Amino acid sequence: MTNAARFARFVQDMTRLVEGQGGDEPKLLDKGAQLLRELVTHDDWLPDAFAAPSDDSYRQYLLHCDPLERFSVVSFVWQPGQKTPVHDHTVWGLIGVMRGEELCEEYADAAPDRPMRRTGAHRVRPGDVDRVSPRIGDVHVVSNAGEQTAVSIHVYGANIGAVERHIFDEQTGALRPFVSGYHNATLPNFWDRSAEMRARLAE
Ligand code: FE2
Repeated sequence: MTNAARFARFVQDMTRLVEGQGGDEPKLLDKGAQLLRELVTHDDWLPDAFAAPSDDSYRQYLLHCDPLERFSVVSFVWQPGQKTPVHDHTVWGLIGVMRGEELCEEYADAAPDRPMRRTGAHRVRPGDVDRVSPRIGDVHVVSNAGEQTAVSIHVYGANIGAVERHIFDEQTGALRPFVSGYHNATLPNFWDRSAEMRARLAE
């Protein structure tokens, strides 16, 4: 059985955070990173269907979207070698690794007719939380850097699957708009608390 209460609590805490600190991105990212670190260091809550890889490409499953679209929570699942194109987000994002190991390669903002300039790369391991935003650096490539399936949990400052973003050509810096969407059509149910309530009745 998955520990649904853990994820439900995370959503409640993130909702309070966005409500209280929504206008202060540095504070929001600091506190949000703490909450996400706590979530991804306990690998007992994600239903298997939302951790299922595909041979076609990495998967992105929507786990929760704030009703006011102030934030969304997505599970990313990567087989060894799978990677994103060079892309941006246009909103803040937190990336917490829960299984396996990922490689984040950062790029400077694109300049027309110039190759993209890579500014850094680092490995992200279980319990690590990475940050992106137009304010602190928003262009990167993420890949599975390990030998096993990797799962990371991402939180973004919008309904990210519906945001118009950009993919960049690494050689020319040319950008094209894209909307990522999600691979799932239905959401996981983290809110069925009937077992807990029935246990209380039986006390
Ligand atoms: Fe990204």
